Amino acid sequence: MTRIRELTIGDYDDMVRLWERGRIPFKPKGRDSREEIRRQMRKNAELFLGVFDERLLVGVVVGSHDGRKGWINRLAVSRECRRKGIAQLLLACVEKALRKRGARIFCALVEESNLESINLFRKQGYLIHRDILYLSKREGEDV
Ligand SMILES: CC(C)(COP(=O)(O)OP(=O)(O)OC[C@H]1O[C@@H](n2cnc3c(N)ncnc32)[C@H](O)[C@@H]1OP(=O)(O)O)[C@@H](O)C(=O)NCCC(=O)NCCS
Repeated sequence: MTRIRELTIGDYDDMVRLWERGRIPFKPKGRDSREEIRRQMRKNAELFLGVFDERLLVGVVVGSHDGRKGWINRLAVSRECRRKGIAQLLLACVEKALRKRGARIFCALVEESNLESINLFRKQGYLIHRDILYLSKREGEDV
């Protein structure tokens, strides 16, 4: 039986396992380190969601709100449990949590080659903006 709940820092190793297996480019020495995630969870517990099959974490998403928009980050579902609607469930729940914080725009950064993810977001009503380039300024490789 699957269920969804807020994640705690006790789930950290399982979250990382899903990100590694899903080839998510996460930052274990930066914003995804155990200490950083612990700090973020203290402020935004309801934006860290996991789907469990019995006691096994099979899906994860991290929401963030920048004061203007809601962002969908680090979404991953274990290979064995894909195409069962788990990502859609995570998206719906994290959007709901972001909406409670005032978000009316939901966004995600997706690699151009990631067709699974692009299809998923489009199915959920997201539009692709081909005229926009992502620019960022980073204070180091690991942040
Ligand atoms: C992308 C990902 C999260 C989808 O998880 P999922 O639980 O399998 O997705 P769902 O079952 O909710 O699928 C919803 C829709 O997404 C699309 N989709 C999902 N997997 C797909 C695939 N392999 N090929 C084409 N479309 C796909 C389909 O439109 C699907 O609807 P359908 O099953 O009715 O056709 C999962 O493939 C994954 O973890 N990938 C690796 C990590 C990753 O890329 N994360 C996203 C980073 S932005």
